[in-house]
Amino acid sequence: TFPERIGWIMKIGVVKEAWPDECRVAASPKNVQRLIKQGFAVLVESGAGVNASFTDQAYVDAGATITETRSAWADVDIVIKVRAPMEREDLNLHEADLLKEGATLISFIWPGQEKDLVEKLSERKATVLAMDCIPRISRAQKMDALSSMANIAGYRAVLEAANEFGSFFTGQMTAAGKVPPAKVMVVGAGVAGLAAIGAARGLGAIVKAFDTRPAVEEQVQSMGAEFLTVEIEEDGTGSGGYAKEMSQAFIDAEHALFEEIASDIDIIVTTALIPGRPAPLLITEQAVKNMKQGSVIVDLAAERGGNTAGAVADKVIESHGVKIVGYTDLPSRMANVSSDLYGNNICHLLDDMGKAADYRVDEEDEVVRGALVLREGEMKWPAPVKKLAEEIKKTESDSQEVPVIAGEKKSEEKDSGPWVMLLIGAALIAVGWTGSESPEPSFLQQITVFVLSCFIGYQVVWNVSASLHTPLMSVTNAISGIIIVGGMLQLGGPLNQPATILGVVAVLFATINIVGGFLVTQRMLKMFQG
Ligand code: NAI
Repeated sequence: TFPERIGWIMKIGVVKEAWPDECRVAASPKNVQRLIKQGFAVLVESGAGVNASFTDQAYVDAGATITETRSAWADVDIVIKVRAPMEREDLNLHEADLLKEGATLISFIWPGQEKDLVEKLSERKATVLAMDCIPRISRAQKMDALSSMANIAGYRAVLEAANEFGSFFTGQMTAAGKVPPAKVMVVGAGVAGLAAIGAARGLGAIVKAFDTRPAVEEQVQSMGAEFLTVEIEEDGTGSGGYAKEMSQAFIDAEHALFEEIASDIDIIVTTALIPGRPAPLLITEQAVKNMKQGSVIVDLAAERGGNTAGAVADKVIESHGVKIVGYTDLPSRMANVSSDLYGNNICHLLDDMGKAADYRVDEEDEVVRGALVLREGEMKWPAPVKKLAEEIKKTESDSQEVPVIAGEKKSEEKDSGPWVMLLIGAALIAVGWTGSESPEPSFLQQITVFVLSCFIGYQVVWNVSASLHTPLMSVTNAISGIIIVGGMLQLGGPLNQPATILGVVAVLFATINIVGGFLVTQRMLKMFQG
């Protein structure tokens, strides 16, 4: 925190991307508005958003100040950008040297591969947060720029395929003749893969998908695609929502499967990846050969060597009459939305870091710790495995259907909640007993049931992890349906009777739950309606 800086406003610089053909910018005008609401002043380099269709005027309208390159880098406390800083031939220096000494940089960094860059930034005594190192845990989903970009890339991959493909996606029956629907296969149903499945289904294609993690089968099927399998049983689930490397026998079985079905597939989108490894070669030359002439493969992993034999990064090549697209800039091809979503990721990170008023680089926060590469020049990457592993383990247990693990963890904590409930229940019984001259014979029985249900309800609800709250809500809605009936039955009595009061409370809370359930459902449906 900066208590000594009272009255002083933290400044954020949004700089123009220098990488050739990079159209994204780290914040849209909408994001700028949000940054200003968070208490920051925002300087935007002139022309920073022009390739993403954001004019300087739009930034000014959002409350930013337009400035030139050096000022956007050097007159601010935090520089936000998309690509890692690079050598600038036009300025004859490295972007790292433009950064004010001791300032903070938030961008993609890839610290594992960019050792020289990290060294340079360290010399500037910079604090660096890498958007590519945000851990994939449930709490950090809104800051996970790799996922938000992969989602766009998966969608765009299908559009690129459609562009290269010489036919319809959806089947057509016209007077001139019948055209069958396109058949699309998606290999790797992670974030990008699922987005590709959604886009291809949306365009009317028949979609099949393959992944090494059995957990995604249900997701694939729920999106209307067929889940392909091989004979060998091997679980590819690794840690932290990522996959692990498969045995050679499994890869061989994949080769055989893809070679066999290639002749029946028009479009393949490959997204298979294991973090930190070169992409596994999955679509062999034989599989490419087996495809029909005019078929298309979009290889999202081209930058990491490719999943397809012959794929070349950033190029469209033709092999055996099949076009292989190896673009590595798919999110940049939809720069308007990708800038906005990337900017949102950064805004969420800054929210997490306390906004301007309470800004801090808190190493106890596992998201910040995961992303922290340098702190005032001191090397902090990689984050200690133990802390991240604990959080990842928790995330994995969160995603299990049965919330037992979370419950076990909780049971070790000193949780006074149920005892408070029991005490309140005992107090209620006492009040009911003394407050009425001749208590109903059934009163004691009912209040006992009430207290026990509070106790059990508390145990059930409090031990369910956040990721399961939506399904839990539908269950509690159903329960509320019963509670509201019970509550209404008690409403007939005089208002000073405990049973009537409890009836009113039951009806009130059950109504909140039911109405809330409908609102949440509405919001979720809206997400799918687009
Ligand atoms: P992810 O980790 O969410 O998904 C990768 C999926 O591949 C996982 O579901 C994993 O189980 C699966 N997989 C791993 N090995 C496999 C195998 N042998 N066979 C079948 N499936 C296998 O990753 P995400 O975020 O979806 O990204 C996917 C790829 O897209 C990455 O290579 C990433 O670098 C790339 N990407 C490319 C962009 C571009 O412009 N070309 C932009 C953004 C991402």
